[in-house]
Amino acid sequence: MPAKRVLIFDSGVGGLSVYQQIIKLTPSIKCHYLFDNAYFPYGELPHLQLIKRLIQLLSEFMSQHPADLLVIACNSASTVALEALRKHFSIPIVGVVPAIKPATLITQNNVIGLLATPGTIERAYTTTLIEQFATGKTVLRIGSTKLVTLAEDKLIGKSINLNDVKAVVSPWLKNEHNMPDTIVLGCTHFPLIKDEIEACFDRPIYFVDSGAAIAVRVKQLLTLDHKALKLSPCNKTKQEHQAFYTKNFTNTEHLSTLKCSFAEYSFQRMTFCDL
Ligand code: DGL
Repeated sequence: MPAKRVLIFDSGVGGLSVYQQIIKLTPSIKCHYLFDNAYFPYGELPHLQLIKRLIQLLSEFMSQHPADLLVIACNSASTVALEALRKHFSIPIVGVVPAIKPATLITQNNVIGLLATPGTIERAYTTTLIEQFATGKTVLRIGSTKLVTLAEDKLIGKSINLNDVKAVVSPWLKNEHNMPDTIVLGCTHFPLIKDEIEACFDRPIYFVDSGAAIAVRVKQLLTLDHKALKLSPCNKTKQEHQAFYTKNFTNTEHLSTLKCSFAEYSFQRMTFCDL
């Protein structure tokens, strides 16, 4: 019996933080990881361009590598394109959006920090999440592409300067009395540099991300009625995963270091018909 095929998608390495949670809970799936490094960073792309790119790229990819379930492991993409993607594709799609609701249950001082990309921060979707779930709480938003690139740097083996991280969160450090006690990591890249973000604060902070909840959702969907979802039953053996990227790496050393982070994956450049 073939294993269930899950496509995990992001602009870069961020989806790895989601993959780690998924595979812990459902080790028998076969993962394809696609990262669109040609269009990175997604957090700065105009809405319509991003939606168009996602539909074109994912259609093309899944025509070559069919999937049973798609995980959009990217808040910047999910907060703007989930509806369009669900209309376009017939397989189940799990999106990753900022974990505002869980954060409201954790905060003690009622000040929540939302750390995400500039795109996610300004989305109507994000504002609605905050209005729906965080009434009576203060939600302070910081949008940063710098942190995204720092996470990418870390995974290709470059060292991170803590002052760069501090500079991003400095608006929260300056105001002792209005400092968040709970921070939502609203970009899948950020759990990969959680230690560095944590090191900027002189007090304990709760960090919340969506990875674990996504893993639960993926498992639920994969174990639902197979017939209804047109999924093949679970294969018990451990699977070979494959990672694909959309733009060649200029530095082969960087690619080799990255391959260590994606140790269970074999790597290849995606081939396009005409994108
Ligand atoms: N990892 C992505 C997210 O969760 C996006 C990073 C980017 O390309 O800007 O938003």
